[in-house]
Amino acid sequence: MTPSILVFLGSERVSGAPLPTRLGARVSSACLRRLADKGVATTQIDPVEVDAPHPFKPLFAYGAGKGPEALDHLADQIRHADGYVMISPEYNHLMSPALSDLLNHFGSSLFSYKPSAIVTYSAGQWGGTRAAVSMRTFLSELGCLPVSAMVHVPHAQDVFHEDGGYRPGVDGDRWDGYFDRTLDQLRWWSEAAARQRCSATDLPKAFVTNPTERNAP
Ligand SMILES: Cc1cc2nc3c(=O)[nH]c(=O)nc-3n(C[C@H](O)[C@H](O)[C@H](O)COP(=O)(O)O)c2cc1C
Repeated sequence: MTPSILVFLGSERVSGAPLPTRLGARVSSACLRRLADKGVATTQIDPVEVDAPHPFKPLFAYGAGKGPEALDHLADQIRHADGYVMISPEYNHLMSPALSDLLNHFGSSLFSYKPSAIVTYSAGQWGGTRAAVSMRTFLSELGCLPVSAMVHVPHAQDVFHEDGGYRPGVDGDRWDGYFDRTLDQLRWWSEAAARQRCSATDLPKAFVTNPTERNAP
């Protein structure tokens, strides 16, 4: 089977300081390229292009089938995907608000029983590792369990060109291999989980709206 993966670009910082802006677009290009090389079907989700309403209101708060068009559309994309790449810069040692805000619109039932991959980056030397630690908790609660390997890109502006290709002098094969360790795990789990979702008859019911659905004593 060919898994279908949504690649979430976790930055909407299209202008202003610090420069360069939207380093995330370069990292996203690299993920899309590596996944395409593996024959994986991808769609990039860009928060700038999603017309999410403000103030914040989760999709399930609108009632069944009555959400804003942009959120309903993204909900369908999330529902039909087999896995997710979550790309985030590190802002104040946390994942970007652009990504967490977007994901918070959707209940865990849309993500459940599918894997995710954590990809972080920064302009500095730590590559977003501190943000990645809390992303693991966030994504687990969302239901899309992160695979064990992660990608962290320090000094992303020195690794990638504006167009997402490697800069001259960068060991692209080595970086490709590093990305592949995580993306191969994601592809493996995406395929395995998709097969299991087709055949399993005993999936625990998703927690949808009411805390009593957790069945906590
Ligand atoms: C509000 C804000 C907070 C930041 N905090 C961190 C941080 O905690 N750690 C870090 O390594 N870089 C931090 N940076 C620098 C980012 O790594 C850098 O600006 C990067 O380009 C952000 O990704 P983006 O361009 O895709 O938005 C921060 C940048 C901003 C705008």
